[in-house]
Amino acid sequence: MKVLVIGGGGREHAITWKLAQSKHAPELFIAPGNPGTAALGRNVPIGASDVAGLLSFAREEGVALTIVGPEQPLVDGIVDAFNKAGLRIFGPTAAAAALEGSKAFAKAFMERHGIPTAAHRTFDKAAYAEAKQYITQQGAPVVLKASGLAAGKGVLICGTLSEAYAGLDALMKESRFGEAGASVVVEECMEGEEASVFALTDGERYVLLAPAQDHKRVGEGDTGPNTGGMGAYAPAPVMTAALMKEVEATVILPTLRGMAAEGTPYQGILYVGLMMTPTGPRVVEFNCRFGDPETQVVLPLLQEDLLEIIGSLVGGDPLPPVSSAVGAAACVVLASGGYPGSYDKGKAIAGIEEADALDDVVVFHAGTRDAAAGGVETSGGRVLAVAASAPDLKGALEKTYAGVARIEFEDQQFRRDIGQKGLARIAES
Ligand code: AMP
Ligand code: GLY
Repeated sequence: MKVLVIGGGGREHAITWKLAQSKHAPELFIAPGNPGTAALGRNVPIGASDVAGLLSFAREEGVALTIVGPEQPLVDGIVDAFNKAGLRIFGPTAAAAALEGSKAFAKAFMERHGIPTAAHRTFDKAAYAEAKQYITQQGAPVVLKASGLAAGKGVLICGTLSEAYAGLDALMKESRFGEAGASVVVEECMEGEEASVFALTDGERYVLLAPAQDHKRVGEGDTGPNTGGMGAYAPAPVMTAALMKEVEATVILPTLRGMAAEGTPYQGILYVGLMMTPTGPRVVEFNCRFGDPETQVVLPLLQEDLLEIIGSLVGGDPLPPVSSAVGAAACVVLASGGYPGSYDKGKAIAGIEEADALDDVVVFHAGTRDAAAGGVETSGGRVLAVAASAPDLKGALEKTYAGVARIEFEDQQFRRDIGQKGLARIAES
């Protein structure tokens, strides 16, 4: 069975790695993939956003199932295009992917269905004065978001009113996020610890994966600018079994039912970003795909066959029973010096094989490429994610950092405090 994975980051390496363990022994294609996925299947030089190119490849190659990593092709309608061509694909249609693609849609949807989230209002460009007035009424801290996709950079957490006014100008007057900022969501700033929950769903049935916690800021102690994610661990102890039940009842079920009732059933991966506030879990955001680097810790904990689960969801077949995660997994992202700002590329990377050879350690590639001189070199901001699993979080972190210690490239940076919040919570309980 031919399976195509779309994307080329650490998340897609982790998806491909998990699929490669399937008892159905799929023949794997990855577009465009990276040097890590090349060891597991065939990399195909088609960009993840080239919907037409991906469609003709899948058709010509006779791909039986396509799994989409990043959000852009989903928001652009890759699922609609594949469905129209009669090809099986796992992911939401463009209309359903609006849960991520339009924060204005997501907020209005949550309001319509009573799903707990931050109080908000959405303003278009013409309503600059009203937006400013609403911000003044709300007071600081306040959160401003570009409604459209902004590669994780369209969120401004404003501690003071003057920061908020400057942010509003950047979004509405200076169009800093282009079209993504054509409408702006102004929302209440929530307090609490964050967690990510992933549901694999056909729109009605769903399988929940272990809740994970990401580390979005570049610096230790959650300081510095936001990044795509500097490390993760799962299961996140902040997300107790009772809270998970609450999230199912107050978020997952109403979301799936609401999307179906509105004529845009949600198939694919529903990523729910949550804040555990004093009044209970509330939604920070929805994403229409797996998280990166959360996938690198969530999939190693999944004991069942990912291909079988996705195949059953797409094909309408009975779902295999899925047990809850045993043990814990952690991952640490090794990034280029300067990331998330500008950074150099082309630094030779040493030690990947040595790290990978350690028990229970896997090195997932992200921003790497083959070097002319042999081996691999850096080619992006987030370069590698070193992941490990163990019976508990402490063990998983020790193994992960032992892997990290084997890898070396010039100007590498990584956080040394991944998982500390989880350890503190376990110590408390
Ligand atoms: P997003 O791009 O929506 O994931 O937002 C990026 C990050 O901004 C989130 O992971 C949170 O840490 C933070 N954030 C977003 N919305 C809020 C909010 N209403 N209150 C507090 N923090 C928020
Ligand atoms: N790790 C955050 C994201 O994938 O959006």
